[in-house]
Order: sequence, then structure tokens, then C-alpha cells
Amino acid sequence: MIPHIRLLILIAISLVSASALANEVDVYKSPTCGCCVKWVKHLRDNGFTVRTHDVQNVVPYKIKYGITQPLASCHTATVDGYTIEGHVPAADIKRLLKEKPKVTGLAVPGMPMGSPGMEGHRKDAYNVLSFDQDGNIKVFASH
Ligand code: CU
Ligand code: CU
Repeated sequence: MIPHIRLLILIAISLVSASALANEVDVYKSPTCGCCVKWVKHLRDNGFTVRTHDVQNVVPYKIKYGITQPLASCHTATVDGYTIEGHVPAADIKRLLKEKPKVTGLAVPGMPMGSPGMEGHRKDAYNVLSFDQDGNIKVFASH
């Protein structure tokens, strides 16, 4: 009886920590990046727990997490084993974590005006791309 209860408790704990992990985002950004801070706020406003890491050079993190030049933006983030590059909307990250496609992650290359954290006088159309390490790049969402 007691070992059985212990097992149930262990399963309950691992389920709780797994769901917590799914909402934890690590962001690698330059300490002087203003739009990065705004994007972090957008994620927090949408229920994500975000840890920010100010780094002098973001390039090694982009390489480490599979970002190539055509995908690159200002910051690189990780969540639940996925890489998130640039101003990706929180809703698309939630969809990624729900659908769990076999990709490296999502990217919004460059810094399109009107994307989360890049709000301003203009709103440009932009795509959220999914990518993998075989060079496959697909449109995940269009905004
Ligand atoms: Cu930016
Ligand atoms: Cu940024």
C-alpha cells in the first residue's frame, strides 16, 4: 500500500514539474536591447516564466541553438527543448508546445514592425517560420 502511494506521489510531482518546465523560457540577449525586454514582457503577460541572460555576444548562443543567418534576429530563447529566435508571438509558442512538431524551433527573422515587442507606428506582415537542422524551413504562422 505505502509503496503504491509513493509511486502515485512521484508521478504527481513529475507531472507538475513537467508542466512547469513547459512554460519556462530562457532568453539570451544583449544587455542594451530594448525590444528584447518588450518581447520578454509580452511572454510574461501571456503566462510564461522567463529567465533572461544578458550576454555581450549573442552569436555563440545562436550557433549553439541551431540558428543560421537567414533565421537570425536580436535574441535567442529556449523553451522545453525548442529554440525561439526573435519576436515570435506567445500564441505561436503555445501552439508549438501543444503540437510538439519535430522541428528545432520557431523564428521570426529580422525584427518586423508590429511583431510583439516591435510595436510602433507601422504594422508589417510577417511569417513565423519553423526550422530544423536539415535546413527545412516552413511557414508556421502568418501575421
Ligand atoms: Cu528585437
Ligand atoms: Cu530581442
